[in-house]
Amino acid sequence: MPPFSNNLSSLPGPIGVFDSGYGGLTVLREIMSLMPGYDYLYLGDNARAPYGSRSFECVYEFTRQCVGRLFSMGCHLVVLACNTASAKALRTIQQHDLPLIDPHRRVLGVVRPTAESIGHLSQTAHVGIVATQGTIRSHTYQMEIAKFWPHLQVTGEACPMWVPLVENNEHLSAGADYFVQRHLDNLMRRDPLIDTLLLGCTHYPLLLTKIRRFLPSTVKVMAQGGYVARSLSDYLNRHPEMESRITCGGTARFLTTEQADAFSQNASLFLGHPVQAEHITL
Ligand code: DGL
Repeated sequence: MPPFSNNLSSLPGPIGVFDSGYGGLTVLREIMSLMPGYDYLYLGDNARAPYGSRSFECVYEFTRQCVGRLFSMGCHLVVLACNTASAKALRTIQQHDLPLIDPHRRVLGVVRPTAESIGHLSQTAHVGIVATQGTIRSHTYQMEIAKFWPHLQVTGEACPMWVPLVENNEHLSAGADYFVQRHLDNLMRRDPLIDTLLLGCTHYPLLLTKIRRFLPSTVKVMAQGGYVARSLSDYLNRHPEMESRITCGGTARFLTTEQADAFSQNASLFLGHPVQAEHITL
């Protein structure tokens, strides 16, 4: 696999947003709504989604390739709008790859902004996390939450069918009910004191109506988009040197490793306005 290009432009560029597929659009939507003035470049690796059941090495390699592409297209700052990639690839990219490519480029994830905030929501100090197998098995959330909220009891439930339901546009179908209910029942059985449920996968907000239907009404649901957007805004305020490397045309461009037409159609549904995606090969 080729390394990151070392011919990277130093000219300002868009903010890169990466996900294995459509899920990162739920984060991009919140980022764009909070900071509409910047340019954005979204990359969905739909051809290789889902990432959730893949090995550490595989998620790292795929994520590294996608980040490399976003850098080579002018991004200085990339948000991994994917929990699986944030849990399994972010640290290695930050510690191993970035110093070799360009120590001034940045890759940020979605786990930390969420972990920082979750303790504000729970009264019982019992929280649940639904996420992909990869995110749950990595224990990243337990470790990150413990840094900020050591008293919280965290119970994770892997939901391996939820991402395929979204990627295949079946998330609103009656068939999805079975898988949503099964995992939420499992989770609440394991810890009935849970009063806050974190959607630890950026695809899951698309299942929100069903999730609410099958949860006790006392349980609050935490989707990540807003927290990630506010954390990014805060980061840019604290790092004017990075802010000056972002172009401000108010545009969004969408890339997918799968068929552009299908992406455009689904992305328009998720974002609520028409989108014209472009196909790329990595
Ligand atoms: N949106 C990704 C996440 O937040 C989905 C992972 C997958 O492709 O399985 O984890």
